[in-house]
Amino acid sequence: MIRKLIEKTRSVRRFQENKRIGIDQLRQLVHLARFGGSARNAQPLKYMIVTESKLRERIFNLLKWAGYLKDWPGPDRGERPVAYIVCMLDRKRCKGPEREAHFDLGIASQNILLGAAEQGIYGCRIAAFSRDISKILYLEERYKVILVLALGYPAEKVVIEKLKKDGDIRYWRDEKNVHHVPKRSLEDILLPVKKLPFE
Ligand SMILES: Cc1cc2nc3c(=O)[nH]c(=O)nc-3n(C[C@H](O)[C@H](O)[C@H](O)COP(=O)(O)O)c2cc1C
Repeated sequence: MIRKLIEKTRSVRRFQENKRIGIDQLRQLVHLARFGGSARNAQPLKYMIVTESKLRERIFNLLKWAGYLKDWPGPDRGERPVAYIVCMLDRKRCKGPEREAHFDLGIASQNILLGAAEQGIYGCRIAAFSRDISKILYLEERYKVILVLALGYPAEKVVIEKLKKDGDIRYWRDEKNVHHVPKRSLEDILLPVKKLPFE
């Protein structure tokens, strides 16, 4: 059921680092990105799969994890991502304003994460990263990295919570290190159609 799959496709930030994802599997996940909608059908996004350990470490050092978890600098050794899909904009393929590519990226990254979750692989979108990533990957000027997808088999449990009365949207970890993500209710996000005064 699509709802079940969407519900379980949560951001995961701790992984079983000893459990690798095959390169063909990763290529198939990028394949799913191809089928996403694209403004003007320009399809300006490109992807790079990184699994090699030294390069992974260099990328890891440029990423910022879980801003709300102030005491947690990110996953420890042994719990780090086993693969990255670096998502970039190919400026030469951009037909309209750059923001359109970000809509495409939302769709494409969700396709990838849904496809991954179906296979028990989870990940996290990382948009907070150092621009040095382009240097590390020796990218030509035409490419602009706009998102890094960190992937692996999970080493943490993530559960959805109702928003508390105070409306706090910050995720948190409990004493057992279970990650809790508050989500707004349907009532909260659904606006009723207003009756016009002359009706
Ligand atoms: C556009 C975007 C950028 C994000 N950037 C980061 C990031 O830099 N670091 C991080 O740890 N999580 C990042 N996240 C993950 C969010 O924190 C996560 O989606 C949110 O806490 C809700 O959890 P959920 O994905 O399980 O619904 C990002 C998510 C999105 C959609």
